[in-house]
Amino acid sequence: MRWLVVGAAGMLGTDLVEVLAGRGHEVRGMDLPAVDILDPASCAAAVAGADVVVNCAAYTAVDAAETDEARAFAVNAVGAATLARAVDAAGGALVQLSTDYVVAGDGTVPWPADAPVAPASAYGRTKAAGEWAVRAECPRTWVVRTAWLYGAHGRNIPSTVARLAGERESFGFVADQVGQPTWTVDLADGIARIVEAGAPYGTWHATNGGETSWHGLAQAVLEELGLDPARATPIPTDAYPLPAPRPAYSVLAHDMWGAAGLEPLPHWRDALHRAAPVLFPGRAR
Ligand SMILES: NC(=O)c1ccc[n+]([C@@H]2O[C@H](COP(=O)([O-])OP(=O)(O)OC[C@H]3O[C@@H](n4cnc5c(N)ncnc54)[C@H](OP(=O)(O)O)[C@@H]3O)[C@@H](O)[C@H]2O)c1
Repeated sequence: MRWLVVGAAGMLGTDLVEVLAGRGHEVRGMDLPAVDILDPASCAAAVAGADVVVNCAAYTAVDAAETDEARAFAVNAVGAATLARAVDAAGGALVQLSTDYVVAGDGTVPWPADAPVAPASAYGRTKAAGEWAVRAECPRTWVVRTAWLYGAHGRNIPSTVARLAGERESFGFVADQVGQPTWTVDLADGIARIVEAGAPYGTWHATNGGETSWHGLAQAVLEELGLDPARATPIPTDAYPLPAPRPAYSVLAHDMWGAAGLEPLPHWRDALHRAAPVLFPGRAR
């Protein structure tokens, strides 16, 4: 299977190219300036010869999007649609990455894939528009929603915790937002398995299993570093105001996996344990 990963220089894209190559696939990775998803001709040239195109390219600055929604919309909605149109014209299939920020976030049980979208943030609105647009442009599309990503090739919360641990005795992390920390390598593996299995097109939730708060994640990172987890203290969302509203409960349900005969992604705590030596070489216990 010939794959093209667009946004290949980003946190997920970098691991995805490596994971796909490791699974024996022929894979090309492209990013700006070699491909620009806002440019139809650039998209058409890039997707030629690819059986599967994964769109990891996005405007991911969640807080900046609150005051820059037009630019976020251009990349996350118009750009996604432009790439999807090129993929459809070339006869390929598309994997479009999306986010837990498209759900309302006020629930108490995991959100099913068919729950109505109700994003509270500008970033969420642009990603929801992107989902709608790619479905309209390319019928052979898997929309893969993920959340709380961390990996070796981008800024993320586990790395922030490790840095803070070297700078301060204690630090607060938000305890009243609950989600699913997800390792980019496990997500990449999950994307490969969905496509390899020929699983049904549609909306997929690809997050590590279980659920926790940012505070729970921070404590787990400290454990992996052999440090006292109590150094991370719980704080409410109000104590750390940010421009973009965050969902309070954005845990995504994984029903599609079992229905398609696939194993969902492993539990987040197991993922963090496997990721720690990669994220913190020489520092993980
Ligand atoms: N990170 C998370 O926690 C998270 C959670 C849920 C969902 N997601 C979704 O997962 C996907 C991957 O996220 P990520 O964290 O790996 O993102 P990332 O690290 O920000 O990477 C995105 C890549 O896309 C590139 N890009 C931006 N505009 C482009 C354009 N017009 N044409 C081609 N490439 C362009 C960026 O280049 P520049 O850096 O030069 O702009 C960057 O290399 C995104 O769809 C994101 O919405 C992420």
